[in-house]
Amino acid sequence: MNNAISVRHEKTLLIRPEFLNHGGTVFGGYMMQWADDMAYNAASLAFPSAGFVTKLFGQFDFKAPVRGGDIVKIYSEVESRGTTSCKIQVWAINARTQAEVFRTFAVMVNVRDGKKVRLDEPLWNREGGFP
Ligand SMILES: CC(C)(COP(=O)(O)OP(=O)(O)OC[C@H]1O[C@@H](n2cnc3c(N)ncnc32)[C@H](O)[C@@H]1OP(=O)(O)O)[C@@H](O)C(=O)NCCC(=O)NCCS
Repeated sequence: MNNAISVRHEKTLLIRPEFLNHGGTVFGGYMMQWADDMAYNAASLAFPSAGFVTKLFGQFDFKAPVRGGDIVKIYSEVESRGTTSCKIQVWAINARTQAEVFRTFAVMVNVRDGKKVRLDEPLWNREGGFP
């Protein structure tokens, strides 16, 4: 994979009661959904003509608890591109404690009619920025 120009995306979430398990911390599955959204967003904004599906995620190791009322920041950034895919770093911090919650990566593949297809040049390589 080649290096790509990186743009960092950020989402700030208030942890509401509906995200909590019986122990009062966030269900990991919600974190994984938000991570998937953020990986998709970063890939799609980097390659606007692509139609991405999630091919692969790295390990989720939840290192610090997130409780009701906490504020979490989730970040994503395209790290590199291949022929049909790109690799995106995704990580989260608990903004109240600054503790890192998880750090992982995703591989998103450009798909058309169910088959992988080559990525076009990202818009920011052609024009130097997002429209
Ligand atoms: C996406 C899909 C079309 C890919 O088809 P495929 O023939 O299996 O493709 P490949 O194994 O050649 O991999 C495609 C790309 O992913 C990359 N890739 C695959 N496995 C990888 C791995 N373990 N680590 C890093 N990259 C990987 C390949 O390098 C390739 O990228 P490149 O062209 O940039 O080099 C197919 O696997 C699929 O439809 N999967 C389901 C996707 C989906 O529905 N996701 C939602 C969750 S259900």
